Amino acid sequence: MDKKIIIANWKSNKNTAQAEEFIRLFSENINRLNLDNKQIILAPSYSLLYTCKTLIDKYNLPVSLCAQDVSSFPEGAYTGAVNAKQIKEFADYTIIGHSERRDYFSESDDVLFKKVNEAKDNDLKIIYCIQNENQKIPSGVAMVAFEPPTAIGTNNPDDPKHIEEVFSQVSKSYSGKILYGGSIKADNVRNYIHIASCSGLLVGGASLEADSFIDLIKEW
Ligand code: PGA
Repeated sequence: MDKKIIIANWKSNKNTAQAEEFIRLFSENINRLNLDNKQIILAPSYSLLYTCKTLIDKYNLPVSLCAQDVSSFPEGAYTGAVNAKQIKEFADYTIIGHSERRDYFSESDDVLFKKVNEAKDNDLKIIYCIQNENQKIPSGVAMVAFEPPTAIGTNNPDDPKHIEEVFSQVSKSYSGKILYGGSIKADNVRNYIHIASCSGLLVGGASLEADSFIDLIKEW
C-alpha cells in the first residue's frame, strides 16, 4: 500500500533557532510515531533548508525536504530568485501554485507552468496546488494538493463530502496522487481518514509546533 503523505508547510515562519528546536523535539518524539505507512515532508523557508537538511541527516530522520516555491527562471541574472538547481542541493520536492503565491504574488498559470518546467528539468518532485477542480494541472507533477482558499488558515476545513467530489472530478483528467490541505489539525484529521482517494495532507498552522504536528501524525 502507498504511504500516506503528510507535508508540513511552515510558510514564512521560523528563524534558525526555532527550526533547530522543532527538529530536535521531533527527533526526540519520533519513537512515539509509527511511520511505516507514512511519508513526512518538511517545507521550510529557503533560508532554513541548509539547517534542516543538516539536522535531518544528523538525526537520521525519515523526513524529506521541500521548498515552498521555485523560480520560474534558470540560474542567472534574476535578483532575489532561488532557482530549481539551487533548491535541489537540499530538497527533493517543491510546492508550486500555493494560493498564497497566486494571490499575494500574482502568479498566473503561465508563470506556474514555467516553474513546473524548471523543477522538472532539475529533478525536483512537484507538489502542485489547486484551489478548485477547474484549475489546469500541468503534466509530470508528483502530486496535486487541493486547498480551497476558504479553508486555509481559517479553522474551517472543507467538508469531507465536498473533498471527495472535487477529487473525483480532478481524477477524470489526472491519475496521480491527490492531497487535501486547509485547517487540518489533530482534532479534526480523523474526519478525513476515510477518504480513500486522499493520498495525504498539506498542513500549515498545525505543523508549526512539533507537539501539534506529532499529534496530527499520530491521529492520521
Ligand atoms: P493551514 O494551511 O493548515 O494553516 O490551513 C494549509 C496550507 O496553506 O498549506
